[in-house]
Amino acid sequence: MCGIIGYVGDKNCARILVDSLKTLEYRGYDSAGIVVVNGKLEVKKAVGRVAGLESQIDYSTFNGTTGMAHTRWATHGKPSVPNSHPHFDQSGTVAVIHNGIIENFAELKSGLLSRGHVFASETDTEVVSHLIGENYSSDSTLEEAVAKTLPLLHGSYALGVVSSRDPGKIVAVRKSSPLVIGVGKGENFIASDVPAFLAHTNKALVVDDGELAVLTPRSVEVFRRGKRVKKDVWKVTWTPEAAKLGGYPYFMLKEIEEQPATIPRVVAQNEAGIRRVAAKLKGAKRVVMLACGTSRHAALIGRYILMKDAGIYCDVMLASEFSHFAQSMDRGTVIIAISQSGETADVMDAVRSAKARGVCVYSIVNVLGSTLTRESDGVIYMQAGPEVGVAATKSFSATVLMFSLLSLALQGRYRKDAKGFVDGAAALVKKTIEDNRGTVKALAEELKGSPAVYFIGRGINFATAIEGALKFKEISYIHAEGMPAGELKHGTLSLVEKGVPVVTINPADDTYEETVSNTMEVRAREGLVIGVSDRPNKIYDRFIRIPEGADPLLYPLLSTVPLQMLAYYVGVARGNDVDKPRNLAKSVTVK
Ligand code: G6P
Repeated sequence: MCGIIGYVGDKNCARILVDSLKTLEYRGYDSAGIVVVNGKLEVKKAVGRVAGLESQIDYSTFNGTTGMAHTRWATHGKPSVPNSHPHFDQSGTVAVIHNGIIENFAELKSGLLSRGHVFASETDTEVVSHLIGENYSSDSTLEEAVAKTLPLLHGSYALGVVSSRDPGKIVAVRKSSPLVIGVGKGENFIASDVPAFLAHTNKALVVDDGELAVLTPRSVEVFRRGKRVKKDVWKVTWTPEAAKLGGYPYFMLKEIEEQPATIPRVVAQNEAGIRRVAAKLKGAKRVVMLACGTSRHAALIGRYILMKDAGIYCDVMLASEFSHFAQSMDRGTVIIAISQSGETADVMDAVRSAKARGVCVYSIVNVLGSTLTRESDGVIYMQAGPEVGVAATKSFSATVLMFSLLSLALQGRYRKDAKGFVDGAAALVKKTIEDNRGTVKALAEELKGSPAVYFIGRGINFATAIEGALKFKEISYIHAEGMPAGELKHGTLSLVEKGVPVVTINPADDTYEETVSNTMEVRAREGLVIGVSDRPNKIYDRFIRIPEGADPLLYPLLSTVPLQMLAYYVGVARGNDVDKPRNLAKSVTVK
């Protein structure tokens, strides 16, 4: 869960690398480092954000035309200057940046220690740099040294390697961690993700597992087991602006507010792809969705949509729990894996174990070319554009709508109804945002000092309740709990007393009356009732109004958007960095 970027070209690259690193901060932000090749390897490292690293750099003196940078989310060793990447070999001529985990590092390290190596950090990565250094004899090339080292490593890695002995070159390899190459004119890039180099080139190629790439300013060569492989270079359609703030104070707000614009893109899908998945679902003995975090909540909504609308029953499993159920999956099972990043380790692990049992895996993914897209039998893209804020927002709405599209395809209504449905959804989301800005900001002021907030809902609205609570807690750092409204009385009600905020997700669908009854249980204890509904009711102390007359299958979307806004405004009111909530990361590539 780190971000890596590398440059080899004709330009002085320190500033390019730092600017690119800022776009990768969503992957980790507890420390950062940069190396440039300038006769020797020159390095700067800092604990904290990239801005802190940048404040140490004098671009007039710190420069070179080859370099790499890294932003870290600590796994092995606390965030500290010595533990920040890059790491060096014993001779100080090889530098390595790494995203992933070397599982057998302890064993490798003790071997190196017994051979007299001295380590500067507690990281698993430093072991890799020492091993590459050991294999980098005077008659071998850097790529040979890297290739010789790889069989020793267990675990996952995207590695970038440079050497002062070979200044115009980057060697990069990938196993189970993301790695893309940006192909420019007279310059080439390695990165964890496309937006990192989008300001310089929109041509990209994805390095697959087991491949080794050698980049110079004018060439990119990719090898598998020593043999050159031909790779497709694709043109990225995202604009660099899509990954910039564009006047917003935070990406989270930008991404919430751009939902009316991103939502219609879900129909710009390959219709045939959606139909193929729909046909597969029809013939399946069992359908299981796998996901984590917000993607799981979108899956829970998808489950209701597919069941109520298209008569397809499915289970939703937390990807991190899947292994305990894997034995009951067989060839008759179809899995839908949902992941914004397409890199979440829990999801990848579950998918791989399902595939090993012959299960067919389709995925719903946002990031083009990510690991999940390459290991699935078929992919549907969310088309949400780059999502930078750690809290997922627009990818959630895209996923929820994707399930409606799947449902339309299952009912043979895709061609006739898909565009109208999605455009209608976008218009209603726009109205919801516009109608609620003032209300939600005022409510955020009121809630910012609460010790805890509860969210309840029934049926399809239960998933909204748990997504509302997840957004709220991750961004505000206030305890929040979401649950089915009917469960409140089975325990959590003991926490409700005068003034305790309870958000009741209560649109005018078939859950309305029963949810009113559960809300009355809150009122009876003098809790502060916050209603989210298209139907006003005097039992609400505060009211978040969603548009009237919507298709009930759109209620989760329309109710979740103001809860995203609530989380955002409470987080801002509490002075939190809402784009990078503490201890979290957007792409969680550890199990
Ligand atoms: C992390 C992020 C969440 C996200 C979850 C699943 O925990 O902080 O926002 O929902 O991962 O991510 P995915 O990329 O698989 O959808």
